[in-house]
Amino acid sequence: MNMRTRVGIIGAGPAGLMLSLLLSREGIDSIILERRDREEIEATIRAGVLEQGTVDLMTEMGLDERMKREGLVHHGIELRFDGEGHRIHLSELTNGRAFTVYPQHEVLKDLIAARLNEGGQILFNVKDVQLADISSSQPRIHFSREHEQSELQCDFIAGCDGFHGVSRPSLPEAEQHVFTRTYPFGWLGILMQAPPSADELIYAYSERGFALISTRSPDLQRMYIQCDPDDDIANWSDEMILEELQARLATTNNWQLRVGPITQKSILAMRSFVIEPMQYGRLFLAGDAAHIVPPTGAKGLNLAVADVRHLAHALKMSYTQNRAELLEAYSTTCLRRVWRAEHFSWWMTSMLHRFPDDDTFYPRLQRAQLEYTVRSRAAATSLAENYVGLPFTW
Ligand code: FAD
Ligand code: DHB
Repeated sequence: MNMRTRVGIIGAGPAGLMLSLLLSREGIDSIILERRDREEIEATIRAGVLEQGTVDLMTEMGLDERMKREGLVHHGIELRFDGEGHRIHLSELTNGRAFTVYPQHEVLKDLIAARLNEGGQILFNVKDVQLADISSSQPRIHFSREHEQSELQCDFIAGCDGFHGVSRPSLPEAEQHVFTRTYPFGWLGILMQAPPSADELIYAYSERGFALISTRSPDLQRMYIQCDPDDDIANWSDEMILEELQARLATTNNWQLRVGPITQKSILAMRSFVIEPMQYGRLFLAGDAAHIVPPTGAKGLNLAVADVRHLAHALKMSYTQNRAELLEAYSTTCLRRVWRAEHFSWWMTSMLHRFPDDDTFYPRLQRAQLEYTVRSRAAATSLAENYVGLPFTW
């Protein structure tokens, strides 16, 4: 079967879905090809923090109905170390900006429903996706679906297929300039049916390693602890996880974790990764296909949204005004924000985790940095403006 669209989008994650919605608002048609089925996408637990700019965009696009109802707006976070909590008043430090806790899979449910409701095409369960002629003006995507071979002809391809997708490897090897770092630790993440243990997110530094208290709803909580990236989740009983959380978050005034059944647990590795440039010929990479950040700064999803905002605008200018310069500048424009987020995520990660190969010098630097961050308004402001998200036009 042969099909044609203006923008062929690979991947129905935050990047691909938001791109197709932004394009449709400009009257530009697109088709999304997605490897997984809808149920799996809508059930995969990932990020939870939406920057102010991501929330504003969803609001402008009329995608905010459920987010406004179910999302939790936060005006501060806590940094906890040496048994004491210190509030960073994000809103006060950033002219009233805030962030919203609204899980990624809920965002995806909203975006998928919105796109399908307006008659958009999302082809789930596609297999064997391959890109062809990306340096020509008529690139194509080959794929199979229900054992039928198909071809999608397009003007442009948006590679929104995440870190393990096919788009990035389709770039000629000589064009792939990769910058990467892996960390000697991972995160063990859980979902727990319990009331919140705190009003705000807590980022805790302790001698036993990092811990993070986040939330999903009044009766479902999300928490993470630093662990060995090669560890097997089967080695962690629920009791061990709860004990570790309580120990890492302990305060001098006897803070208590509120506990309940753990309904989900998994371990994720942590890396920083950027490919430059984010474009080759008619192929434009966006989101995790082009860059990965360690999750400590909660930037991954938000960066994906920022990329496609630029891409949608550049495509609009190209189609409606025959101006190609924004498309030509796409990679440079995105990479400015990408590297800012890479730095912030690396910085938060480095400040808050125990590094297994240095338990003397580095911990003292970390404590000095934590103290500076909570005691200096200038340092706290730097954390705050990065955390709530820099302006879209950064
Ligand atoms: P993705 O969400 O990865 O979407 C890519 C889509 O492309 C997927 O639906 C995939 O099925 C599809 N696809 C892949 N290959 C193909 C193919 N060959 N053909 C067709 N379709 C394909 N960020 C945070 O900020 N905080 C967190 O706590 C956090 N936790 C995370 C936990 C995990 C396990 C992972 C993997 C990521 C986490 N992230 C987190 C990062 C955040 O979720 C991502 O940055 C975000 O999902 C990026 O969106 P994306 O659309 O670029 O890619
Ligand atoms: C969550 C994830 C993060 O990476 C983070 O920094 C804060 C919160 C979360 O999943 O809720």
